[in-house]
Amino acid sequence: MRKKIIAGNWKMNKTPGETVALINELKPLVANDEVDVVFCVPAISIIPAMEAAKGSNISIGAENMYFEESGAYTGEIAPNMLTDVGVKYVIIGHSERREYFAETDETVNKKVLKAFEHGITPIICCGETLTQREQGITIDWIRQQIKVAFLNVTAEQAKTAVIAYEPIWAIGTGKTATSDQAEEVCAAIRSCIAEIYDDATAEEIRIQYGGSVNAKNAAELFAKADIDGGLVGGASLKPEFGNIVNYNK
Ligand code: 13P
Repeated sequence: MRKKIIAGNWKMNKTPGETVALINELKPLVANDEVDVVFCVPAISIIPAMEAAKGSNISIGAENMYFEESGAYTGEIAPNMLTDVGVKYVIIGHSERREYFAETDETVNKKVLKAFEHGITPIICCGETLTQREQGITIDWIRQQIKVAFLNVTAEQAKTAVIAYEPIWAIGTGKTATSDQAEEVCAAIRSCIAEIYDDATAEEIRIQYGGSVNAKNAAELFAKADIDGGLVGGASLKPEFGNIVNYNK
């Protein structure tokens, strides 16, 4: 039985000071040991977030990471900078990074490999545009993203990965995929993992849905057989996130 993982992606929101205040506010609301709870915050807020979350069930994650160890990469964050402060999760290849910061399936793969090398669990994002959905190529597109993201990743590593299926047309739009639409793609992702590796790996890997998840739709989405939790943007910055994390109560 896979444990659900519900992660907030704070994106470029909240100063370090505001981060501490928000974590203190949300801490009692997200106390649910039946699920893994992760707050992915801007790099500058990781350390204060760690301090604020101490003693709670919240893990702090990063929103991005570079694929080199160190060196002349102005503005980037190295994997050992994250592990040094106790980061366990990193979002890789969010559609906003692909759209605005030129990330590709190839750089996603490099980052995924580097995260595993350092013992950080990648939350690997994939998703189609509205045009691709209308063209009927969603599953082909997602399979391609997954196959490239997992190149040279071992089955042992893949078992511990998290995949976030985030249809781009559902992000920040208030337009959630229906639970059937989300399940169809998450099930296809699991089959793709079974093809690349084997059934045991596909059974263990956790697949989230992301895109306008809120307190009203979370329970229906998370009840689906292949949806193991959510990656939540806007609603993760509000007390509502507590209701999402406690969707099963
Ligand atoms: P919203 O929940 O704001 O739609 O954002 C989803 C997302 O991009 C999470 O990574």
